Amino acid sequence: MTPLVGTGDLSQRDALVGGDVSVPVGGEHRRYVDLDAAATTSATAGVVRAVQEFLPWYSSVHRGAGAKSQVTSARYEQARESLLRFVGADPTTHLALFPKNTTEGLNLIAYRLGLTRDDVVLTTAIEHHANLLPWRRHAQVRIVDVDRSGTYDVDAVVAALDQRPTPRVLAVSGASNVTGWLPDLAGIAAAARDRGVLVVVDGAQLVPHRPVDVAALGIDVLVWSGHKMFAPFGAGGLVADRRLLADGEPFLVGGGAVKAVSDDEVVWADTPDRDDAGTPNVVGVVALAAAAEELLAAGERNRVHEDLLVQALDDELGTVPGLRRLGPTSGDRLPVAAFVIDGMPHAEVAHRLAREHGIGVRSGCFCAHPYLSRLFGLTAGEVQQFHDDARADRTDRLPGAVRVSCSSATPLADVATLGEALRALTAGATRPVVTAGQGR
Ligand code: ALA
Repeated sequence: MTPLVGTGDLSQRDALVGGDVSVPVGGEHRRYVDLDAAATTSATAGVVRAVQEFLPWYSSVHRGAGAKSQVTSARYEQARESLLRFVGADPTTHLALFPKNTTEGLNLIAYRLGLTRDDVVLTTAIEHHANLLPWRRHAQVRIVDVDRSGTYDVDAVVAALDQRPTPRVLAVSGASNVTGWLPDLAGIAAAARDRGVLVVVDGAQLVPHRPVDVAALGIDVLVWSGHKMFAPFGAGGLVADRRLLADGEPFLVGGGAVKAVSDDEVVWADTPDRDDAGTPNVVGVVALAAAAEELLAAGERNRVHEDLLVQALDDELGTVPGLRRLGPTSGDRLPVAAFVIDGMPHAEVAHRLAREHGIGVRSGCFCAHPYLSRLFGLTAGEVQQFHDDARADRTDRLPGAVRVSCSSATPLADVATLGEALRALTAGATRPVVTAGQGR
C-alpha cells in the first residue's frame, strides 16, 4: 500500500490521532474509515500529549536516586491511583497492576490464584480466548452455554454456580467482542458473591465504553487493555483485591519483584512490586492513566453517541440484501456488529471494504472460536473439520464472519459510509479483489 496521507481536515475527528488519514482507493485517496475499534483504537490527542509531556522526564522506576527517576517513579505510582479511581475501586482493598494487555492480565491472575486441577472455574461460551485458555491451563472449566441468539441469562449462571463442585472462580466478559452484547454483570457478580465465588471480569470491551464500578459490583479482579481504550502504548490494567496477591510466587520472576536473593533463596517483595518484575512500560502506563482520566471525565456522556451508533448500525445493516446478523439485535448493546452475507466469503467482504471503500473492519472468528461455532450452529463434526483445516493451513475453508466495531470517537457518518459500501458490494457494483481467508 502506498504511504498514508494526513489531509489536515480534522473537523469532528480531531480527538483521535490519525482520524484524518487517507488511503488509496482506486485512483484516489479517501479518508480512512476505521470500524475496527474492538480490535484496537488509535490514541486520543490528549493521550499523546501526556506521553510527549512525560518523555523528557522518562527514567528508571524505583531504581534511581536522580530527579528524573523520582518524577518517573511518582508518575508510575500516580497511575495506579488513576486506574483505581477509573474503575471505582477502593485503594484500601484493591490495587492496580499494569500487564501489557488483557491476555497477559488474565494469564497472571489465573496463575496467581494458585488453582489446581481440582478447582472449577466457571466461565461462559461468549468468551474470547484470553478468558478461556489461561483458566483451562490451571483448572477445570465449566461453561455457561448460550442460546442461538448468542446470549445467556443470570439463571443459567446461577444453575452453573450451584452445580457441584462449587466453582472457585467466575470469569466473565463484561461485553462481547463479537456481538457487543452486555451480560447482566451486576446480577451475575451478585450471584457469585452470594456463593463465595471469586468474580474475575474481563473488561477488555466493556471498560472503553461504559463506566465500571468495581466496589458497587463486588468485582474481585478486573482486567483490561490500554490499546482498546485510546492508549495503544503497550500497557493494560489489572485491578485486584489485594488479598489475592498477598502471597505466592509472581507470574513473572526477576529484578524488582524481590527483597532479597541468595544462591538458594528468594524473599519476594510485597505486592504490587512482587508482580512487577523487570523495568516496566512507564510510557504505556502514563498513556493508560491519561486515557483513564479522559474516560472518567466523559462518564456517561459517551453513551449518548454510542447508542446512536448502535441504532445507525442496526439501520444500515438492516438494509443490506442477504446480510445476516450474528447475536442479539435488540436491547442494550455496544456499537459492535458481526454478520455474514449470503454468497460472499467473510474475508472477501472485509478485503473489498478495505480496497474498494477505504473501510477497515475485521473478519474471521475474532479470537472467540467457541462462541463463533455456537453462533454458526456448527456440529461437533464441523468443529472437528475446522480444526483439521486449521492444522492443514486451509485458511480459505475456515468459517468466519465480518465484524464492524465503533468507539465513542467514531463519527456517525462512518456507519452511513459502511452501509453504502455494503449495498454497493451486494449489488455487484465492483469486482472482488481477494478471496483468501484470514480466519483467526
Ligand atoms: N480480541 C480482539 C478483537 O476482538 C483482538 O479483535
